[in-house]
Amino acid sequence: MKALIASGGRGTRLRPLTHTQNKHLIPIANKPILHYAIEAAVDAGIKQIGIVCNSDSSEVQKAIGNGKHWGVKITYIPQKAPLGLAHVVKIAQKFIGKDDFIFYLGDNMVVGGVKRFIDEFEKSDCNCFLTLSKVKDPERFGVPVIKNNKIVRVEEKPKHPKSEFAVAGIYIYDHHIFEAVKNIKPSARGELEISDAHTYLIQRGYKVGYSEITGWWKDTGKPTDLLEANRLILDNIQPKMSGHVDKASTVAGKVILELGTKIINSVVRGPAIIGKNAVIENSYIGPFTSIGNDTVIKNSEVEYSIVLRDCKIHDVKIRIEGSILGNDVEIVDASGKPHVHRFMIGDQSRVEVA
Ligand code: DAU
Repeated sequence: MKALIASGGRGTRLRPLTHTQNKHLIPIANKPILHYAIEAAVDAGIKQIGIVCNSDSSEVQKAIGNGKHWGVKITYIPQKAPLGLAHVVKIAQKFIGKDDFIFYLGDNMVVGGVKRFIDEFEKSDCNCFLTLSKVKDPERFGVPVIKNNKIVRVEEKPKHPKSEFAVAGIYIYDHHIFEAVKNIKPSARGELEISDAHTYLIQRGYKVGYSEITGWWKDTGKPTDLLEANRLILDNIQPKMSGHVDKASTVAGKVILELGTKIINSVVRGPAIIGKNAVIENSYIGPFTSIGNDTVIKNSEVEYSIVLRDCKIHDVKIRIEGSILGNDVEIVDASGKPHVHRFMIGDQSRVEVA
């Protein structure tokens, strides 16, 4: 069994963060999203991982490396343009060869790993094994049409979904998937759709099985998904106290304080993670917050947010909540007269003021 992970695409729904970094490297609980996919494969005992990445950038390769860190071999497969998930599979045929493989979308996160699905696939005589998750908004996903407990078709982002399930971005295949991805045509939006490849397999009589993901699963396509994934990961962290907390401060609940962090006259209420050499002074950090390395927060309150590295949040009078701040962002007091908001914001940013 090999693993194929998709990390290409443009991440347009996560702009402006994705103007300067690949969406799969955005940290959730201070760890790049892509690490969760790699670790799911590693935990399932997989030793060879192929990562499909944009051919015009080496950002993912630089950040992830050759896999030594996880005791696996990572092979990079460049994709010249985001031509669809079935295209991702198509260009990976040389890497996969005749092996079975798990195809994992690098922006998906699942609790409980993927070994259970691989075990189910291996026990079955399926050519293709899909994972389904009940969602409120199936129209955003591939949606299975199920009759008599069998998937008879998969529709990509249908206007009128025929079930309450999304096909999650965790698929297991044998080599017949290559026949499918070679025979389908691009959809109206110009992509080779993985859902069409699944329908092709079903219509040609190949066996397509499925299992429901009963725990949580997230596709981190939108900013609110990132915050939600951050919440879910932080809920399961093991506390660690490597930083310094002064006597005037309170740290309560599950909190990770990394090396060199200083908590001064502040309250940190977990679950939360505070990165290396961050400083929290005269401030409140509330539940479900991730603070990146070297960020400094003074005289301010932050809750249910993701703040990346090297940010400066000083003297902000209203609590920052439900927010995502990129690297090197500053939010500071606009002191003096007149009493104003002063912005210096890049393309496609969003600010909500009270
Ligand atoms: O998350 C599950 C959903 O993923 C499925 O239910 C859908 O059937 C499937 O089409 C896909 O839908 P998305 O709209 O979420 O796909 P997205 O374009 O966001 O791409 C998913 C991941 O694959 C993301 O990590 C980017 C990467 N990708 C995408 C394309 C189109 C590539 O590496 N190359 C590509 O050509």
